[in-house]
Amino acid sequence: MATTDTMTPAQFVAGLPKAELHMHIEGSIEPGLFLRLAERNSVALRWDSEEALRAAYRFTDLQDFLDLYYDGCRVLVRAEDFHDVTRDYLRRAHADGVLHAEMFLGVQGHTSRGVPLDMVMNGVLGAMAKAQAEDGIGAGLIVVAQRHRSEEEALAMLEALRPWYPRLLGFGLGGAEVGHPPSKFAAFFRRCRALGFKVVAHAGEEGPAAYVREALDLLRVERLDHGNACIDDPALVAALAASRVPLTMCPLSNLRLGVVDSLAAHPLKRLLDAGVCVTVNSDDPSYFGGYVNDNYLACQQALGLDNAALATLARNSFEAAFMPEAQRLDALARINAWVSRSEGVAA
Ligand code: ADE
Ligand code: ZN
Repeated sequence: MATTDTMTPAQFVAGLPKAELHMHIEGSIEPGLFLRLAERNSVALRWDSEEALRAAYRFTDLQDFLDLYYDGCRVLVRAEDFHDVTRDYLRRAHADGVLHAEMFLGVQGHTSRGVPLDMVMNGVLGAMAKAQAEDGIGAGLIVVAQRHRSEEEALAMLEALRPWYPRLLGFGLGGAEVGHPPSKFAAFFRRCRALGFKVVAHAGEEGPAAYVREALDLLRVERLDHGNACIDDPALVAALAASRVPLTMCPLSNLRLGVVDSLAAHPLKRLLDAGVCVTVNSDDPSYFGGYVNDNYLACQQALGLDNAALATLARNSFEAAFMPEAQRLDALARINAWVSRSEGVAA
């Protein structure tokens, strides 16, 4: 049995049960699969090797990344393609100790290219069912509206998804943030909430703390995706700590997109210390060089997190998850057992 003396941070993180709550399915196409899909669908690419693709994954900011990300979506054409990328991500997440994954899907990026909605949904939902059956990993789907498009388009998407309502967890908001404040989507979010869906939104990634406030007050989100900019508004941080509205933070993404200059400057630990329900996630793992465990470890190293802080992040992930209460309690018990084991105490 591993004890405190023998368990490295990497081993502690690897065995820590966790939920991942902020990742985009389209952001998890690994270069190898990307090339295979392009060939399978006869899609012409600017790159001809995995190395060339990886070399292209250098971004100046969010829009620079989104341009490549939306272009990359062209390799996803048939249900089988959506299935394969989703199944691959869930396999990796399971290997990282993820018990429950909530995934974002930007259907407008596909239907706008002429891909039928049922291709997208059948592929993704089929892979989720398979992963549950084969690995026991729980998975939920959150459809994100693209904020550079109009609210009318978001409402039309919501209507088109009606046949899949029973299989969706909720709705969110992603894409280019600055210039597209949460208030632009107030009616869309009102409708999602009236239909009984969970609602989340990207806010405060590149946008200001005021966008975080808008997401909370106008959209009434139950979780904030990123939320970094709240650190500029002490009263907002205090309100987040009091309400325990969770933040799904993505440290390696923030580093790669220039949201922070270094991981040492990331607000995650300051927010954790302030009592905010902070969680760690991968966002677009194949583009940003790391899955969820890589993100935990990068924070551990840059911010000096000890095992207690890492366990708090994992507990927060289940507190923040949209999952049945019995599963949440089971996951929390499994975290306690792992912490005991890491301390050399019989679990
Ligand atoms: N879509 C995919 N990744 C995103 C990010 N980091 N911010 C906003 N929208 C996204
Ligand atoms: Zn995101």
